[in-house]
Amino acid sequence: MKTSIELRLEKDLHDLTENSLYRSIPEFKHNCGMIDCATNSYLNLDTNHQIEKAANSMISTTSGNLASRLIRSGSPLFSELECEIAEWKGTESALLFNSGYAANTGIIQALARRSTVVFSDRLNHASIVDGIVLSGAKMVRYDHNNIYDLESKINDFPDSEKIIITDALFSMDGDIADLVRIARIADQTGSLLMVDEAHSSGVYGHAGNGLVHEMQLSDSVDIIVGTLSKALSGVGGYFAGSRLIRNYLINKSRSFIYSTALPESCLARNLAAVRYIRHHPRLGSELIEMAHEFRASLTEMGYNIGASVSYIIPIITGSAEKAIALSDYLAKQNIIAPAIRTPTVPVGQSRVRLSLHHGITRDELAHLQTTFEGASLWVNADS
Ligand SMILES: Cc1ncc(COP(=O)(O)O)c(C=O)c1O
Repeated sequence: MKTSIELRLEKDLHDLTENSLYRSIPEFKHNCGMIDCATNSYLNLDTNHQIEKAANSMISTTSGNLASRLIRSGSPLFSELECEIAEWKGTESALLFNSGYAANTGIIQALARRSTVVFSDRLNHASIVDGIVLSGAKMVRYDHNNIYDLESKINDFPDSEKIIITDALFSMDGDIADLVRIARIADQTGSLLMVDEAHSSGVYGHAGNGLVHEMQLSDSVDIIVGTLSKALSGVGGYFAGSRLIRNYLINKSRSFIYSTALPESCLARNLAAVRYIRHHPRLGSELIEMAHEFRASLTEMGYNIGASVSYIIPIITGSAEKAIALSDYLAKQNIIAPAIRTPTVPVGQSRVRLSLHHGITRDELAHLQTTFEGASLWVNADS
């Protein structure tokens, strides 16, 4: 007989299916002949043989794993990679985590306590929200990229310890946080400022060092979080900032302390990818330029691309059904682009998320353009 929990799970899954919100893992497919607009490997480093070769030449021991770093450091590449990241980001230090998710949850849990107030953009990534919940701090969500709302909410807590956290480039909307004004508010209110550069690192800034650098805010941002899993196409997350905070994280961050560290094969791959980006400083700006032209043509065709200013371009359809229909239509035209539905995006704002990457050819761009022209009438008709 099924337990009451199993019956509840069955009902929840049934409800998700009824509302076109049921998720399943897509079958693995070689994307032979398909245009991949579902990748976070924005610079195509996943297929870069120079990186593969450089990584292989760095692996000294087996590629297997040993233990959490506080128990037994398994490779000299940990500190080499952390030094490389700190130099790239222009910070005193860096600390590796096993993923961007582990970095966000581990950093926030370590730094915030019950009496801390954390101001978080309403569209921040789930790992930031989870970190705040884990810390037990008071979470105050401000309207997306709305500086007036942030300012008015922060003024309600003059005497509290405060942290402001924002994504730099929003992963489902492709817009950029108003970091200059957020940094000013952080400075005026004595708040710690943490910026998640998961989607901007590797592409924006000089040689991909990120939006914080591009906006000349290195002195105003206390914590940069990044992931090695997007433009760098590896695995792992990182903190970049002061030695003081790094030492504190080593002592207090539970996702760092209580989890076995990455194996050397991953460290080597990550290190080779960071070095490759630093030696090829034009990759990011070329992608940004291509995306700029493509966004303009989508807007001209009448698509709602929200506030996107980047290579992440949402085609906002509103209903989940239409997002799925558009994603299916694109698949038939050899274009991979996922439908994104609630709870990843707010109810009524379902979309197809296009992510452009550096390897898209002129011919492929032309095919994308023709395909979107073909769908504009039914996608943009009021439902
Ligand atoms: C803004 C943001 N932060 C953090 C993460 C987590 O990074 P990772 O995939 O390395 O766990 C993601 C991943 O989607 C993200 O979009």
